[in-house]
Amino acid sequence: MDQFIYQKEDFSLDQKELILEETIFHNANGYLGVRANFEEGYPDTYKTIRGTYINGVYDFTPMNQAEKLHGLIEEKQTILNVADTQEILLYIEGQRFSMFEGTVLGSNRILDMKKGITIRNIIWESDKGHRIEIKITRMASFVFQHLFLINYEMRPLNFDGEIEIVSAHKGKVSNFFDPSDPRVAGETFEYLHLSDVKVEDDISIMTAETSKSGIQICSLVKNQLESTVGRFVQKETEVTQTFTVRAQKGKKISFYKYTVLGDSIRSADVQKEMKQYLKDVVSRPVFELYERQEVYLKDFWNNSALEVEGDEDLQKAVYYNQYQLLSSVSKDAYGNIAAKGLSGEGYEGHYFWDTEMYLQPFFVLNEREISKNLIRFRYRTLEFAKDNARELGHSQGALYPWRTIMGKECSGYFPSGTAAYHINGDVAYSVVAYYLATKDLEFMKECGAEILLETARLWMDAGNYYQGKFHINEVTGPDEYTCMVNNNYYTNLLAQYNLRWAAKMVRILSTAETGEQWCAKMHITEEECRSFEEAADNMMLPYDEETGINPQDDSFMQKKRWDLEKTPSEMFPLLMNCHPLNLYRYQICKQADTVMAHFILEDAQDIDTIRRSYDYYEKITTHDSSLSTCIFSIMAARLGMTQKAYDYFGESAKLDLFNTHKNTKDGIHTANMGGTYMAIVYGFGGFRLKEEGISFRPVMPKAWNGYSFKILFEDSKILVRVDKKQCEFILENGSGKEISVYDEKYFLVRNLAVSLKENNAE
Ligand code: BGC
Repeated sequence: MDQFIYQKEDFSLDQKELILEETIFHNANGYLGVRANFEEGYPDTYKTIRGTYINGVYDFTPMNQAEKLHGLIEEKQTILNVADTQEILLYIEGQRFSMFEGTVLGSNRILDMKKGITIRNIIWESDKGHRIEIKITRMASFVFQHLFLINYEMRPLNFDGEIEIVSAHKGKVSNFFDPSDPRVAGETFEYLHLSDVKVEDDISIMTAETSKSGIQICSLVKNQLESTVGRFVQKETEVTQTFTVRAQKGKKISFYKYTVLGDSIRSADVQKEMKQYLKDVVSRPVFELYERQEVYLKDFWNNSALEVEGDEDLQKAVYYNQYQLLSSVSKDAYGNIAAKGLSGEGYEGHYFWDTEMYLQPFFVLNEREISKNLIRFRYRTLEFAKDNARELGHSQGALYPWRTIMGKECSGYFPSGTAAYHINGDVAYSVVAYYLATKDLEFMKECGAEILLETARLWMDAGNYYQGKFHINEVTGPDEYTCMVNNNYYTNLLAQYNLRWAAKMVRILSTAETGEQWCAKMHITEEECRSFEEAADNMMLPYDEETGINPQDDSFMQKKRWDLEKTPSEMFPLLMNCHPLNLYRYQICKQADTVMAHFILEDAQDIDTIRRSYDYYEKITTHDSSLSTCIFSIMAARLGMTQKAYDYFGESAKLDLFNTHKNTKDGIHTANMGGTYMAIVYGFGGFRLKEEGISFRPVMPKAWNGYSFKILFEDSKILVRVDKKQCEFILENGSGKEISVYDEKYFLVRNLAVSLKENNAE
């Protein structure tokens, strides 16, 4: 069985299944994403989320605040559903093909992760008995980022007759919303206004302007049916092209629909550039387009594939998640990674801390250019982060928005939005991770160091000394069931790290070439550096003597504990059924918070505190957020509970393919997908990236025969292979490296094998 193929046989036409598959089988390349809607459409009663999205393309939409308190945002950004070019109608001897009429004799859906395509195969019979085989192949090209290609193949099985194909390009589109679900509760209205609709050189071209953000989007469609000339019909918001052919029994007819999408954020003259772009892709033999996609993916898999031996379902899910990481991430600094990638409109296409803490680990260790662009995105939006800080009353520094597309804050409900100041520490953490993996001082000078400095300056203003300790009050940590607290452990620990690294980076850069100039430009003084270090050294990190754990914040231990065992299953996720204040009064966690802090900065505590804390929080964590189980998996592995780690890992890996959170219809959960990667590398592999270097502490789940992964550290690519007896480290290229395995230091020259150590706490 090919693990790179995800396939569904005789797919169900049940509404719930179809809407889910629209997400699962979507095509995306980091620039554009198209949901897997049926080209031929659905019956009117069907609810579908028909969508095409461009990373970073948004409009401003109103955020109505019932009480207009100062500083609450009144405008947010929403990813836009752009021109719909999916529609292809097929008429066979007058009857329109539909999955819901006539007879479907067989069907399947395929995602081929090596070829980078999706396929829908159908054998259909019309009411009059005309039988036809249809194969629809879709590709969002990784190489030609503006291109989405549909190849529609038909083969009459038992007739000669007339076939008509009507291909549409629709400019009237709107976004999806569901007022009953806070995760997709945006309002619906048409954001895009068509300013130009035309047909030129057999290409339909539409240009649309956003209502408020001043972005222009251009969509171009070129249909090709062998040498047949189609008839265009142009209407105000729609262009169709109709082709009529005489079909012969057994003979394949192949129709191509090229869509090119462009936007004025990336192109100065978008229409002109996209016309040229389309001409270029159409002039290439189509096999070249497919071949280059395959080569691109071959490199990707060679570079980074996570292999799991002994569990086929899990292996497929792991590949699926990895594939979606690549499909979701912007390859330039104008976009980022939305919580739902480019697969749906959940969370309105916003970027969160998910990027830095759940997705960057994969890119830092595998795809450096992408990793750099994710940091550059934060740098590009640094001025907005400074404005945000001023709006919140801070006299210095930058505060990154909790959720955003273009850099301004989009949180409607500030207690579990803007108050999540840890985003600053997260961004800083990812800059440091990039530096530790690369030692790329040039990039620090270009942008990383300034991010570290401005985020550190914010902490100095947000916090204050009290009884000799540095406190950070009124913030929300990762756990959104506990809001607006003093001294959230995770936040303070990251702030400490941020402050220390800001000072350290200034010191490194000031001694480097042109360092003095840089310091002068940043107005940084030795005194300011020392103030960072002092605050870091005196950071308040809650510790409870009685239980021996790190409480999530100052008041956490005073609260009642929520009894999870007595909570009926239909109550989950609690956020859908409980008033926030109700949740805030309890010890109840939506996701890993302190446990996450113990993972990312493990040296801040001794292992016993970490273990006790894990046990404590596990009993009160609902994992209502998809960002949770992967972290529990990593920490269970660290603490020697390999079976438990494996169980959590399974939940994380299968979340979207099995729709366990019941909202995959709104889009994939990209952070969790990054978390699956982390659970193997950081969890089972026990990998850590620190200032002292890289280290491993592999464990092996019973159900597997082995697993392997690769990491790029400085100039070296290291393959790590673990089986039931040993872990092997193979230097694939680059210079020899010191690595630590189970706290023993080795120098890896070519190959190294270390026996697997039992670490069983179960
Ligand atoms: C989580 C956040 C996360 C957001 C987007 C929420 O449910 O609580 O931590 O950033 O989803 O993925």
